[in-house]
Amino acid sequence: MTEQARMSRHLYLAIAAGFSALGGLLFGYDTGVISGAILFIRNQFMLSTFQVEMVISAVLFGAVGGASCAGYLADCMGRRKLLLWIALLFTLASLGSALAANAAWLIVSRVLVGLAIGVSSMVTPLYIAEISPAASRGMLVSLNQLAITIGIVVSYFVDYSLASTGDWRWMIGLGVFPAAIFGLGMLFLPESPRWLFKNGYEEKALQILTFIHGPLTAQEEIEDIHKHVKTPRATLVQSMTPWVKRALVIGIGLAIFQQMTGINTVIYYAPMIFEFAGIHTASTAILATSIIGIVNVLATFIALWLLDRLGRRPLLLIGLAGMILSLALLGASFHFSYFKNHLGWLTLSTLILYVISFAVSLGPIFWLLISEIYPLSIRGRAMSIATIANWLANLVVALTFLTLIDYLGPASTFWLYGAVGVVAWIFSYFLVPETKKMTLEQIEAKWNQ
Ligand code: BGC
Repeated sequence: MTEQARMSRHLYLAIAAGFSALGGLLFGYDTGVISGAILFIRNQFMLSTFQVEMVISAVLFGAVGGASCAGYLADCMGRRKLLLWIALLFTLASLGSALAANAAWLIVSRVLVGLAIGVSSMVTPLYIAEISPAASRGMLVSLNQLAITIGIVVSYFVDYSLASTGDWRWMIGLGVFPAAIFGLGMLFLPESPRWLFKNGYEEKALQILTFIHGPLTAQEEIEDIHKHVKTPRATLVQSMTPWVKRALVIGIGLAIFQQMTGINTVIYYAPMIFEFAGIHTASTAILATSIIGIVNVLATFIALWLLDRLGRRPLLLIGLAGMILSLALLGASFHFSYFKNHLGWLTLSTLILYVISFAVSLGPIFWLLISEIYPLSIRGRAMSIATIANWLANLVVALTFLTLIDYLGPASTFWLYGAVGVVAWIFSYFLVPETKKMTLEQIEAKWNQ
């Protein structure tokens, strides 16, 4: 293959992965934007505390629902077609939320936005993994995580810049634009060759693989895929070999650890954490929160660069160790009165260390591994299970954080998340496999040995 052909294939793949990662951008934007918008929505609709909680958690409830049907739909109708429908749902539901005339209307629209997020959070990494070559799959799939972090930062800035007018309809409604671009982009992208092959479109699958990976690699991959689709459509129960069980435990375990180590207490409640630390001016708290958001994006670039070089396992273990250390220090800063005068700075620096550690490990690696470790015959449904666990755990943490702070205080709450981190480290050390530079079929074959 000439150097030029190789470059244009790389470029095509990066564009394809980039467009599909707009699903991640919407995930980040729509989960982040509500933190600022809610203040104005509450005033306009005169919401009770319960209604405020409902508006905020509506997306999470929707996402659990979306994740529950995503795998089945992705296996039945194809990854690309499903993403197209989801882009339409994102567009309409964002528009519906922005135009809401009352609280009930807003809550229903936000549940629908959540449904779209739940589906795309799973199908986007799945789709990218299935079109990517083994050598750069880590980076390409993690473009989705990068897009999530960018979506979160953009939502912080949009909230901040519209705060003076209080225009919450624009805050929420701006999601329509990336949603429409996402849909338009998907119109021009190919279906996953692996899904096509499994569903009998062998010629088309080979054509697409040849186009994106070149004729030699395509031929090798198609032979490999062929070996692994002998069992056409097994039910999950029929597929329960010991290694599938282990892979399910890994997916569910990492899903729960990704959330129960507390990332979204920082993403959703950072201004409040800074308030506990004695920073009472709103503008300073918002500035500190934006710094956290930007660090999250920058550190994700490091992950993208390292995932296919260093591998998934070392990054996961190093990042988890950093998360445990920073949570221990954060807890200590709140616990010991000695640090009282420096609490603001200590909080900011330990949170920065925490977010960097998350962004190079559990953040991207959870979504990456669940797109890699399941056999093709059940990939969609198995990923669904891990994704449901992730959204449920997210919901539990979001609903319990403030109560934990009330009952245990900030120090013990952060230590609790740190303790979960220790369990996550041990779990990962003993169970998580390395998948660097292996094709999805080689991973499947290795597990089967
Ligand atoms: C998690 C989200 C989190 C985000 C932060 C994602 O991997 O699934 O819950 O908000 O990372 O960057």
